[in-house]
Amino acid sequence: MTLTITPFDSPIGAEVTGIELRHALDKSMVETIYQAWLDNIVLIFRGQSLSKDEQIAFANQFGNVGIRATPKDAQNEVANGYDGSIMLVTNQRDERGNYIGSLQDGEMWFHHDMSYRPEPHKATLLHAIELPSTGGNTKFANQYLAYENIPQEIKELLFGRKVLQAYNFTMLEKVDLKESLDGIQHQWQPIFVRHPETGKTALYVSRLISAAIEGLERQESDEILGQLIDIAEDPSVVYEHIWQPGDLAMWDNRCSTHARTDFPATEARLLRRCTLEGAPMISGS
Ligand code: OGA
Ligand code: MN
Repeated sequence: MTLTITPFDSPIGAEVTGIELRHALDKSMVETIYQAWLDNIVLIFRGQSLSKDEQIAFANQFGNVGIRATPKDAQNEVANGYDGSIMLVTNQRDERGNYIGSLQDGEMWFHHDMSYRPEPHKATLLHAIELPSTGGNTKFANQYLAYENIPQEIKELLFGRKVLQAYNFTMLEKVDLKESLDGIQHQWQPIFVRHPETGKTALYVSRLISAAIEGLERQESDEILGQLIDIAEDPSVVYEHIWQPGDLAMWDNRCSTHARTDFPATEARLLRRCTLEGAPMISGS
C-alpha cells in the first residue's frame, strides 16, 4: 500500500488512501499525515472500521486525546460507560428512551469546536458508523481564506480586538446576551488568530458561538458579526462531506469551522468522536 494524499477539488480538505488506521504508524507516516493535515485542514480516510480503542490509539499519535468540555455528570456517554474523552454524535436512544450520545438531531450551524474554552482542542476526529439515507452531511469552511476575503477597512477596525464565544449546547441558536452568561460556557478570544504551527492568520468567528465584538456598540457589533459570518461560510470557502460508513474525518479547529445539514429524525445516525488537546488561541495580525 502506498500512502497517497489527494487534495479535493475544493478550497479545503484532502483524501488519504493507502493506509489502515487500526495499525500503529511509523514515525515518518505520522509526520507525513500531520503535515498533510496542516496543509489541507481536513483529512478524510475512507473504508476504516475502528473500535473505540483503535480510534483513540490512532488519535494519540498526533497529540494528547482531550477530555470533553461537558461536565462528566452531564455526559450521556459517561452514563453508558465511556471515560469523558469520547462523544457519540448520535440521535440513538437506549431501551428506556434516553439519548446515548450528543448533538442528536437535525441541522447544526457553523462553529469551531470548543472556541468557548480557554484552551480549545486543536483537532477533532469523527468516525462514521451508521448514517441516514440522506442528509447529515458535514460542511467544512476554510478560515484562512475567509480571513483573506475580509475587506481591508473591516480588518483595520477589528485588528487586536476580541470576540465573545459562548455556547449553550443548542444547534441553531446563539446565546441570548440579554440573559446572564452565568452557567454558560464562554470565553473572549482573538477575532483573528495566528495558527501556532503554520503561522498563517485565520478568522475565528462562527454563526453558532460568536456573540459580540469587544468595544463596539451592540448594533454595530451585530452588523459586523453578521458580515464576518457571511464571509466565514461563503460557499467559495466550503467543502461538503457526504459520509459513508467507515469514514474518519480529522479537522483542525484553529483554521476551520464546520456545520451539519439536516437529516430525517426517523433514521439512525451514529459517529464516534474524540479530540486532541490544544493551547490558548494567539492573536493574529
Ligand atoms: C462535531 C460536530 C457535526 C456532525 O462532532 O463536533 O459538529 O456532522 N459534528 O455531526
Ligand atoms: Mn462540532
